[in-house]
Amino acid sequence: MIIGGPASQLLAGRVAAILGETLALCDYKTFPDGESYSQISTPLDDEVVIIQSTPTNQDLVYLLQLLDVCQGRKISLVIPYFGYARQDKIFKPGEPMTARAVARALNPFLESGRVALVNIHAPSIMAHFRCPSENLDATPLLAEKVGSMGLKDAVVISPDKGAVAMARTAATCLGADCDYLQKTRLSGTEVSMAPKEVNVKGRDVVIFDDMIATGGTMATAITLLRQQGANRVYLAAVHPVLTGSAVLKLYRSGVEVVLATDTLDKGVSTVSVAPLIAKALRAQ
Ligand code: R5P
Repeated sequence: MIIGGPASQLLAGRVAAILGETLALCDYKTFPDGESYSQISTPLDDEVVIIQSTPTNQDLVYLLQLLDVCQGRKISLVIPYFGYARQDKIFKPGEPMTARAVARALNPFLESGRVALVNIHAPSIMAHFRCPSENLDATPLLAEKVGSMGLKDAVVISPDKGAVAMARTAATCLGADCDYLQKTRLSGTEVSMAPKEVNVKGRDVVIFDDMIATGGTMATAITLLRQQGANRVYLAAVHPVLTGSAVLKLYRSGVEVVLATDTLDKGVSTVSVAPLIAKALRAQ
């Protein structure tokens, strides 16, 4: 039985369809004081799969509610987009490691269960789960879509060192060159960013990253690559967080196409991770 949380209804439906499993009927609402309410109205199986991304605090509460309803059962939890993943370290004294705090809140429900995440921002977060855990990689699915778009003389670029592994995987799938943007400090106030080795002049470029949040990183990268003579610039990101005016920033910078997955259900979520999740669940 598949239980889709409010942030992952479409994805849960897609996974249930691939696996031929029952999709539970659930009701989600918000009380006038802002508190969340969940109800699963389909009788539960002994083994359940809960799929719920946690882009907001409220989505995290919905997830806790679903886990609470299912307590005592064997739970496979899938969190396609794990919020707070960028709070994976204590950067300043007195700060929490919120990603760890979230994992710790989920652990008691997963004593006989397991958890799967998709392209978690910091793989070190997996260690905070006490149950078996998996970090699924959606890069090949994104690369397959890019491969169908007719790029000419393509170069795959990572906007920083953090996404280099992803860019390398994508470049291998596409049979393309790969590089990352290197920051050089010119003065106290000026930095320049350019591909470390590859000349992008006249070539189509696709920038791969785990997520687009404010769009600032990608917009800067697009502008720089276009200044360096790149032809068309495509973006491929697993998690389209897209806060505020991120989409406007990207298109103002001259992006050709923004591609993302349905770990978050947005207009740009044209690549589904449902086959990836279904495969991982089947293998359990
Ligand atoms: C950073 O390490 C991440 O991989 C992304 O590059 C970053 O979170 C994107 O954020 P924004 O869209 O706000 O620049």
